[in-house]
Amino acid sequence: MIFDNRVTRLLGVDIPIVQAPMGYIAKPALVAAVAEAGAVGLVPGSLGIDEVRDDIHRTRDLTDKPFGVNLPIAFVRDIKIVDMIVEEGITFVTTSAGSPDKHTARLKAAGLIVFHVVPTLRGAQKAVDAGVDGLVVEGSEGAGFKSPRDVTSMVLLPLVASRLNVPVIAAGGMADGRSMAAAFALGAEGVQMGTRMVASLESPVHQNMKQAVVDAEETDTMMINQHNGKPVRVLRTQATAPFELAVDGDPMALLGSILDLYRDGDINASLPQLGQVAGRIGAIQPVAEIIRETVEEFEATLTALAHRYPSSTRRSERTTMGYALTGFDGKVALVTGAGRMRSIGRPAAVELAKAGCHVVLTGTGRDPSRYPDDEKAAGWRDIESVADEVRAHGVEAMTAVSDVADEAAVARLGTEIIERFGRVDIVINNAGAARGEDRVPVVDLARLCGATCSTSTSPGRSWSRRRWPGT
Ligand SMILES: Cc1cc2nc3c(=O)[nH]c(=O)nc-3n(C[C@H](O)[C@H](O)[C@H](O)COP(=O)(O)O)c2cc1C
Repeated sequence: MIFDNRVTRLLGVDIPIVQAPMGYIAKPALVAAVAEAGAVGLVPGSLGIDEVRDDIHRTRDLTDKPFGVNLPIAFVRDIKIVDMIVEEGITFVTTSAGSPDKHTARLKAAGLIVFHVVPTLRGAQKAVDAGVDGLVVEGSEGAGFKSPRDVTSMVLLPLVASRLNVPVIAAGGMADGRSMAAAFALGAEGVQMGTRMVASLESPVHQNMKQAVVDAEETDTMMINQHNGKPVRVLRTQATAPFELAVDGDPMALLGSILDLYRDGDINASLPQLGQVAGRIGAIQPVAEIIRETVEEFEATLTALAHRYPSSTRRSERTTMGYALTGFDGKVALVTGAGRMRSIGRPAAVELAKAGCHVVLTGTGRDPSRYPDDEKAAGWRDIESVADEVRAHGVEAMTAVSDVADEAAVARLGTEIIERFGRVDIVINNAGAARGEDRVPVVDLARLCGATCSTSTSPGRSWSRRRWPGT
């Protein structure tokens, strides 16, 4: 998948997935693993200036790839941290938890790319007015400190994306390719993951905290501290539950013992900040795997949707070599010998797909997952690529390993196609054309499948009937 959008171009990365800045968690091993995977690592700037500088250096020891820093404005202990970030040659900063007016001008003057984290449309407008390059738009289902007026990603993302013309990174509820695809549909050009990264192999928190993510159901987090005007989304535990509906008390005092939770694994010692999306996270995985699977699922989700909901206008405009193929819409074609990218079956299949025809592709290549050492398996990879090309035109593609010179195999194939599509309208018999091998006579192949129309890519050839007693 090639991501070429404003986020990847501005940040100079391949994959627009951002690891959320999390104090004590986004340490060099995690940030570097994200950067190495081609995504965006962020060093949190909430700790002291020396520790942040040290984290930048240690991250650089682990990766040559770019990474950024987050400046949580309200929690910055020493304002010189801004100069340090500039001196260190960091090129990307997210600012959060404070007014975007405070540091944006200075950071922009130093040539940095600045994204500000916003929980509302009004906040987003203010950040754009302050001159930021983009926004991290964070819905209230996410972990950690939240706006007192909470809005979820589903409403906030399309609202901000449609009103303001700056690149948007979606945060809150992002954990995989499906949520990423949803965020992109709502206008985002990148996603930020917090809770998912807590449960990564490289996350330095205690196993108990990671397991809490895996064990959590979607209903297991809640907002606390609402009565103090600074809500925080945390996991419901013995320690945090009393604050769910509290009208007094200071749950923030528990933050003082955060290391007892992160380092020692005492889940009741502090505030386990987790998002609702914990309910969708079922495993602790290495960062590289999380990023790879997210990208793969993102692509598969987009393809499946385009396939499931084909555009009716596009189809009527499809033409082949200047001629509009008409009358194929919704029909089912079987194209044999389509197992290789260079075969004649491939363009035939693609042209039929353009005309709205579902296509069944057969070849004698083998499934490489079952025959890893078989040379022929390469052909199978090709058939899947041809199937993807077919699907890209919004129709269905089915692939089958089938030797069409074998009557029983053809009969089985016919049954499978009928089961899936309920019909076969067209057979294009291309199998063995290049090698002049024995083939099932095209008319019989069509008859066996119950097709109403059939043709062959080399009708002049004499068909072998040796394997066809009685025909
Ligand atoms: C354990 C944990 C600690 C966090 N700590 C911080 C933090 O120190 N500073 C910050 O800006 N955000 C922090 N966050 C919030 C994340 O930056 C991010 O916005 C949020 O997790 C996104 O929602 P998600 O959890 O649904 O992915 C934290 C999140 C988690 C899960």
